[in-house]
Amino acid sequence: MRIAIVGVGHVGLVSAAAFARWGHDVVGYDDDAEKVATLQDGRAWFYEPGLQELLDEVIAAGRLRFTADPAEAIGGVEAVFACVGTPPLEDGSPNLAYLEAVARTVAEHSDSDTLLVEKSTVPASTGRRLEQVIAREQTRLGKSLRIEVASNPEFLREGTAVEDTLHPDRIVYGTSSDWARDVLRRVYQPLVDEDGCPVVETDVATSEVIKHASNAFLATRISFINAVARICDQVGADVEVVADGMGHDARIGRGFLSAGLGYGGSCFPKDVDAFAHLARQVGVPFRLLDEVRAINVSQRRLIVDKLRQELWHLDGKTIVLLGAAFKPGTDDLREAPAVHLTRELAEVGADVRVYDPVATAQMEAMFPGLATFDDVTPALAGAHAAVVCTEWEQVRALTPDDYLRALAYPIVVDGRNAHDPDVMLDAGLRYHSIGRRSAAGQAG
Ligand SMILES: NC(=O)c1ccc[n+]([C@@H]2O[C@H](COP(=O)([O-])OP(=O)(O)OC[C@H]3O[C@@H](n4cnc5c(N)ncnc54)[C@H](O)[C@@H]3O)[C@@H](O)[C@H]2O)c1
Repeated sequence: MRIAIVGVGHVGLVSAAAFARWGHDVVGYDDDAEKVATLQDGRAWFYEPGLQELLDEVIAAGRLRFTADPAEAIGGVEAVFACVGTPPLEDGSPNLAYLEAVARTVAEHSDSDTLLVEKSTVPASTGRRLEQVIAREQTRLGKSLRIEVASNPEFLREGTAVEDTLHPDRIVYGTSSDWARDVLRRVYQPLVDEDGCPVVETDVATSEVIKHASNAFLATRISFINAVARICDQVGADVEVVADGMGHDARIGRGFLSAGLGYGGSCFPKDVDAFAHLARQVGVPFRLLDEVRAINVSQRRLIVDKLRQELWHLDGKTIVLLGAAFKPGTDDLREAPAVHLTRELAEVGADVRVYDPVATAQMEAMFPGLATFDDVTPALAGAHAAVVCTEWEQVRALTPDDYLRALAYPIVVDGRNAHDPDVMLDAGLRYHSIGRRSAAGQAG
């Protein structure tokens, strides 16, 4: 099949490469000429494990190319997958302007019947609005092609995006005609034949809700365990063992029950807000989600409180943040807790420095003049306290001795529960984590 991908970012580029791997003829279009030039050079413009190798393979096979010309991308394809961003607006609703622009582009440049597929995460009823945009544009242009809109939400996770796309837990798509369903069946048939993953076929609105409900539910689990961790802190229980104990129950499971400094990234914060916004808009407020968000924000405050408990004033204190990316395996800083912490600590006068194995350039672009390190040992040297923000392997591998030798004061606040509290405390560190045994009282 001939397929166009519009928006070759974290979702679009991985999807484009996967579709090409399944034997389709794929063209990736982006309105950012610089990204397209990098891709035409054969290089991914962001870091994602295994992506470069997959691109090398499918580009060499002649099944994937890139263009900055929408006419070249959209003419002659059966399906256009919209993978553009849907970032949050002030009121929590997603900005759908990029997606509307894609609908107009498709109406303008299609030269045969085309299925426009929303892969971007969108609120329910976006499909209907996009069909209105296309119908209006076609009337304006004097065209009358069959252009339908389908929903095919994406569930990949940054850091394991290639693996998730090649071996997904499920494929979900929602369509409003047999023709559209057939197009998507043919897109995914090679994957289903090879991998046998389950397919959920439904209508467009249901498919849109599946994505928001999934992310809102996962975020709820994280905030739930973080609230439990607060209780553990007060009663001397260990939240990791609590989560293990809960997780053995087949009805609960262990996934997304890791206490820490909260969820981040480009999806959970915005999707929780967008789903809550939609619920308010349709007259059925989902207050649980407001609380999920509030708990998440308060987790960062907890880290600052723990630092204050040890260091008293933070003004003039050197704090090293270990990890900047919102999770290991990516250089994506969108809504990363470390970015918020950098800002919040700098505001109270702390001298912040940041270690990250892959995201220092992005941190410097965001905070000009910030001291950044690609290597963890010099980052620790002479700092008054270390805060674990991302559980990179290089951070997990740090021993009590590594901290004790390098830090000016032996203070570690572990926002990811990456270390064993007994090992850290027994070695003499003032070690704090989330909902587990921590250094008692104040430093002597
Ligand atoms: N990143 C994830 O882990 C993830 C996972 C599942 C779903 N999603 C959803 O997928 C969507 C895309 O997310 P992303 O992380 O890939 O975003 P991204 O910012 O990495 O990529 C979006 C791309 O679209 C391009 N673009 C924007 N407007 C365009 C236009 N009118 N024409 C052509 N190109 C345009 C941008 O230049 C950019 O390259 C979002 O709705 C997001 O919520 C993301």
